[in-house]
Amino acid sequence: MSVFAKKVIAWQQREGRHGLPWQGTKDAYRVWLSEIMLQQTQVATVIPYFERFLQRFPDVVSLAKAPEDDVMQLWAGLGYYARARNLHRAAKQVVELHGGKFPDDFEAIHALPGVGRSTAAAISAFAFGQRKPILDGNVKRVFARHFGVGGDVKSKAVEDQLWQVAEQQLPKSDIETYTQGLMDLGATLCKRTQPSCLLCPVGKTCVGFKEGRTEELPGKGLRKEVPHREMRMLVILHKEDVLLEKRPPTGIWGGLWCLPEAPMEKDSVDTLARKYRLKGRIARELDRVEHGFTHYSLTIFPIQIEVKKVDLAAMEPGLMWIDIREAGNAAVPAPVKRILETLRR
Ligand code: ADE
Repeated sequence: MSVFAKKVIAWQQREGRHGLPWQGTKDAYRVWLSEIMLQQTQVATVIPYFERFLQRFPDVVSLAKAPEDDVMQLWAGLGYYARARNLHRAAKQVVELHGGKFPDDFEAIHALPGVGRSTAAAISAFAFGQRKPILDGNVKRVFARHFGVGGDVKSKAVEDQLWQVAEQQLPKSDIETYTQGLMDLGATLCKRTQPSCLLCPVGKTCVGFKEGRTEELPGKGLRKEVPHREMRMLVILHKEDVLLEKRPPTGIWGGLWCLPEAPMEKDSVDTLARKYRLKGRIARELDRVEHGFTHYSLTIFPIQIEVKKVDLAAMEPGLMWIDIREAGNAAVPAPVKRILETLRR
């Protein structure tokens, strides 16, 4: 076993994270669910979502049977909603292709929607004790620094190199502890900024630390500026109710309920009023809300419109009136939830 792997394993047992709700189980459904939730999302954020989700869907069959809206509602606020749609599709596949039993074959796991190579490896290791290498964003950083792998980590060439490192370092035993150790190292010590190299179990052998290169590793490509977008949202109120609109299944917030969106042009509010056949007036502009996506940043300009008369046309499918006090609990994205919360005071 490599010295690196040995040290990571010993450190995980001593200082790694233990007692997380998805640890201490070999239930592949729980392991899979946790790994999907933990993609791009921190442990502390995931824990309450994981527990609520399991209460409602204790196994893969119950998830497969659920209406998509229920799945989206439990995911609302966690972000990256394609994960929830893929999770639901994958559950259906497990029922259809594997008789409701989560597969233990690496290729079959990898073939499920939303399960990339690293996630499939993590599930294989944690649920089935299989010897497969992981390489998520945090682990790339650990390897790039420790083994001094320079160059843009987003490039195919560097990624291939890092996968080779990941394969080479795999220990013959204790794969679960080693895999968890890599994740814990990346999340708690080998952080993107100000890593805790003096506490690191593999600091003595780390190229990045020894050569003072932890800031330049992992290497970044030419950073593109994130574009900025603006969007108007209509807070259409009738007495205690607010109008929500279901978003199309693809695109941002796909499948979630949202405040109706309007372009930023001046006359668009009138256009929207006509679309929803609402006789109202602009009551006021609400505080704008900033939201960051991976590929762009968004400023939302909410406008509150009080409506006296509700045309039944506004009740077509894909639209719903919901009590303001309950709207925040519906399957709405985080920035919409924030807007709705400002209405309640
Ligand atoms: N990030 C991804 N998978 C994880 C896990 N199993 N535990 C902690 N953080 C993680």
